[in-house]
Amino acid sequence: MLIVILTLTIVLFWLLRDEFRKFYLAFFIPGPPGLPLAGNGLDLINKSPQELIQIISRYLKNHGNFIRIWLGNQLLIATTDPKAVQAIMTDSNLLTKSREYEYMEAWLGTGLLTSTNQKWLSRRKILTPAFHFKILDEFIEVFDKQGTILIEKLKKFDGKESFNIFPLVALCALDVICETAMGISLNSQSDSESQYVKNVNELADIIHRRTYDFIERYEFLFKFTKTYKRQQKLVEALHQFTESVIKSRRKEMKSKQNTAQEDEDFGIKKKKALLDLLLETTVEGKLLSNEDIREEIDTFMFEGHDTSASALAYTLYNIARYEHIQKKCFEEIDSVLGNDGKITMKSLNELKYLELVCKESLRLYPSVPIFGRRTVEEMMINDKMIPKDTTLLMLPYFMARDPEIWQNPEKFIPERHAVEKDNEDSQVFTYIPFSGGYRNCIGQKFAMLELKSTVSKVVLNYKLSVKENFTPEDALELVIKSTNGIMLKIESRKLSN
Ligand code: HEM
Repeated sequence: MLIVILTLTIVLFWLLRDEFRKFYLAFFIPGPPGLPLAGNGLDLINKSPQELIQIISRYLKNHGNFIRIWLGNQLLIATTDPKAVQAIMTDSNLLTKSREYEYMEAWLGTGLLTSTNQKWLSRRKILTPAFHFKILDEFIEVFDKQGTILIEKLKKFDGKESFNIFPLVALCALDVICETAMGISLNSQSDSESQYVKNVNELADIIHRRTYDFIERYEFLFKFTKTYKRQQKLVEALHQFTESVIKSRRKEMKSKQNTAQEDEDFGIKKKKALLDLLLETTVEGKLLSNEDIREEIDTFMFEGHDTSASALAYTLYNIARYEHIQKKCFEEIDSVLGNDGKITMKSLNELKYLELVCKESLRLYPSVPIFGRRTVEEMMINDKMIPKDTTLLMLPYFMARDPEIWQNPEKFIPERHAVEKDNEDSQVFTYIPFSGGYRNCIGQKFAMLELKSTVSKVVLNYKLSVKENFTPEDALELVIKSTNGIMLKIESRKLSN
């Protein structure tokens, strides 16, 4: 009998050896005390996004800039330490995203954002040329056109009471990414009732809610929920949409192969969307399949829409908030764009002060406020041994508010970004709105051009101010949003000058 008990104990210890090792190593990392089994779960699960900001701020204040948090038996390390962030982002063994990214896979498959290892590497190689400045140059026309529509849409708020600018810039960003990624006009700025728009927004919301929902977090439980059924419907509709665009574009491409040559002979040049570049791409002599392309196009739609919308809304808010900064921006934009307000790559590159303003806005309100990786083996980070299968969370939103990193962190000072930093410098990792290292944002140049183009059009046409006593209530969603909107007032410059 004793032998049986002894053998069972040894087997149990052997089976749970990784768990024991995890608890042992985590013991040496500071963090908030937790309960047995639940860990810190009761603190975090089912909390509102605003409450989460308070809780995480408290954890960091009380336990330092490299802390452990337990969600049940899931170990999370959250850090605002630039040295740890640098170590994580530049380690080629840390390319795997945290488990929460799996919630996106029903929609995005394993596209660039969610894939790992060889697949990620080969996709990154294929997609990098699609963001070359020559390609981006062709997109400027789209930014300009959609910005002009936004100006028109804003007319109805001219001189009126305050309004929430977020939904307007969100539709503009959606039209931009749809036209540049798929080469089709969604016209959502004109038709905000579009089913595609509604589906994208609802699905993004489901993905976000699952992160903090006690039941929906777990795939096997999620499958029994109504939300799961709804997700299936939304995913099906979105996939059908993207696939139909891919198919018709492929067909069009084949039938135009001959006429394209004729067009070129006559000097007519067709504008390319990211999709066209993917349709032409070959790997080992083979074209990418429709499914491969769909994964990447859906990823662009997801990653390039809400992020840009949030950046646009918060940048306009910051410009509206500081009169002296708005004046300086307007003078620069006015002198560069002149009377017709036409946007070109050259003019966007000349908007140096506006660039600093956009960067400072992204520092304080990074569109992606938290992002995560996962250790696939035990490894040393910040002189601490981190167990296998640990989630590593980087927190740009909290880094921006850390006085150890920034002087007067809460102040909006665009000039902070006037000094160029060397890529090797660990200071680079104090500022990570576009992430950094291997898995940085592939669309960051695209995003900065879109941001500068759209903001410059708004500022050139309207004088902005913030609604009296308004402060955004930031919510830590997948993308940072203000739960009470971004409430601005606008006045046409044609009337006020
Ligand atoms: C202001 C706008 C944007 C911000 C702040 C932003 C930020 C980020 C961040 C922080 C990441 C890393 C996420 C992570 O590790 O989980 C990321 C990745 C990515 N972004 Fe962006 N993004 C923006 C716009 C865009 C746009 C416009 C596109 C596409 C046209 C895009 C495409 C991507 C893709 C494909 C990835 C995954 C890259 C990889 O893992 O290799 N982003 N972005």
